[in-house]
Amino acid sequence: MTSAAETVDDYLPDDDVVLAARARAAELGCPAVAPSTGAALRFLATTVGAKAVVELGTGAGVSGLYLLRGMAGRGEGGVLTSIDIEPEFHRAARLAFREAGFPAGSTRLILGRAVDVLPRLTTGGYDMVFVDAAKVEYAHYFEQGVQLLRPGGVIAFNDVFGQHRPGDRARRDAEATALRDVARAVALDERLMPALLPVGSGLLAAARLEV
Ligand SMILES: C[S@@+](CC[C@H](N)C(=O)[O-])C[C@H]1O[C@@H](n2cnc3c(N)ncnc32)[C@H](O)[C@@H]1O
Repeated sequence: MTSAAETVDDYLPDDDVVLAARARAAELGCPAVAPSTGAALRFLATTVGAKAVVELGTGAGVSGLYLLRGMAGRGEGGVLTSIDIEPEFHRAARLAFREAGFPAGSTRLILGRAVDVLPRLTTGGYDMVFVDAAKVEYAHYFEQGVQLLRPGGVIAFNDVFGQHRPGDRARRDAEATALRDVARAVALDERLMPALLPVGSGLLAAARLEV
């Protein structure tokens, strides 16, 4: 019997626009989502009919490309609000979105720390929140991110397996603790229907229930 692909990342290969964005991300030293994680994000955005999405951690725009394509999957698209602390990354992401043919109005890039920007966004005003910024702040993103979701909306945390992370020991320990805490909090939260997806470095997704 032959398998559909060698690995989950081979199944849906990146196109040239995503490959170019990945190359820029690598040049800038910014890790990007794996192809399988991107496909899962695109799938989720399409499934929830996402028109308003918040992303924490724009990077060079790789995950943003998948999200925008998922948002466009059911027709007219929407607006991706994406937050990062690095202007250089925003410049690279803008280029990626332009190369993919998305009009400038389909993205709102906000420069700043996610914990400072999140309280300024509209409560209950978003279909999807994607978390991929500072791991040690994931608990804050969780609290604030769930508030932004409409019922039926989805929050997704990238990199929850936290394997092979760079940085010193103390930082890695702090990140591991933060990831464990948020995984436990999501699993126990009665407002949410969670699923831990074994794509890329682990994508923890949860749908907001009507409660
Ligand atoms: C893993 S990269 C994001 C990659 C991107 N999601 C992708 O797949 O293309 C993490 C990003 O979070 C940003 N970041 C780190 N700390 C942050 C913070 N406190 N607030 C907002 N962004 C932050 C970094 O500058 C970096 O671009």
